[in-house]
Amino acid sequence: MNKLIVSLLLTLGITGAAVAAEGPLKGDATAGQAKAAVCGACHGPDGNSPAPNFPKLAGQGERYLTKQMQDIKSGKRTVLEMTGLLANSSDQDLADIAAYFASQKGSVGAADPKLVARGKKLFRGGNLDKGLPACTGCHSPNGAGIAAAAFPHLSGQHAQYIAKQLTDFRKEEGGRANDGDAAIMRTIARKLSDEDIAALSSYIQGLH
Ligand code: HEC
Ligand code: HEC
Repeated sequence: MNKLIVSLLLTLGITGAAVAAEGPLKGDATAGQAKAAVCGACHGPDGNSPAPNFPKLAGQGERYLTKQMQDIKSGKRTVLEMTGLLANSSDQDLADIAAYFASQKGSVGAADPKLVARGKKLFRGGNLDKGLPACTGCHSPNGAGIAAAAFPHLSGQHAQYIAKQLTDFRKEEGGRANDGDAAIMRTIARKLSDEDIAALSSYIQGLH
C-alpha cells in the first residue's frame, strides 16, 4: 500500500477511525493518569504491560486509543477482561486516558532471529502473489503508525497479542471486526497463513 492510496483512503474518510476521533475533546494527560490507575493492573502503570496477552498502550496514538476504548465500551470490540470497566467513563475520561498513555514511552521486545527474515519481507514488501500490501504503508517502516489517521503504533508490541489480533481479524465470524466498513485489516489478515502471522508478530515485537 503506497502513500497515495493511504491519502486516498483518508480523503474519502474510509478509515472511519480518523473521523470518529475527530471530536472536539482534547485529552489532559495529567487528569488521565489518575483515571488510568485501574488499568495499570493489566496494562502496566505506564502502559508497558508486562504480560504478553495484555497489550502495551504506552506510546500508542491518541486517536487510535480513544477509538478502541469507545469500541470496547460500546461492545463493537469484545474484550472480556474489560467487561463493564468503561461503562461509567465519559468521553472526556476516555480522551484524558488516551492522552496519558500516548504521552508515555513504549518499551521494545526482541524478535526471534529465526523468524526475522520472513517477518521483515512481509512487513516491508507484502506479498505480490497474494495481493497483500506492505504493512509499512499504514503502520510506517519503523512501526510507529500514523497517529493522526488512527493507524496504530505496532513496534515493540507483544508478539502474542499481535498474533491474536491478526488471527481474530482473519476469522469470518466471532473475531475482531471493528476495523471500519472498508474492513482493511480483515481483508489483509485473510491473506495471511499461520506462519506469516507468527513471523510478522515476532518481527513487530522487536521493531523500533
Ligand atoms: C483485567 C485486565 C484488564 C484491565 C484491568 C484493563 N484491560 Fe484493557 N485490555 C485487556 C486485554 C486482555 C486486552 C486485549 C484483548 C484482545 O486480545 O483483543 C485489552 C485491550 C485494551 C485496549 C486496546 C489496545 C489495542 O492496542 O488495540 C485498550 C485501548 C485498553 N485495553 C484500554 C484499557 C483501559 C483504559 C483500562 C482501564 C480503564 C483497561 N484497558 C483495563 C485487559 C485489561
Ligand atoms: C491500508 C492501511 C493498513 C495496512 C496496509 C495495514 N494495516 Fe494494520 N491496521 C490498519 C488500521 C486502520 C488498523 C486499526 C483498526 C481499528 O481501528 O480497529 C490496523 C490495526 C492493526 C493491528 C491491531 C493493532 C492493535 O494494537 O490491536 C495489527 C496487529 C495490524 N494492523 C497489523 C498489520 C500488519 C501485520 C499489516 C501488514 C501485513 C498491516 N497491519 C497492514 C491499517 C492498515
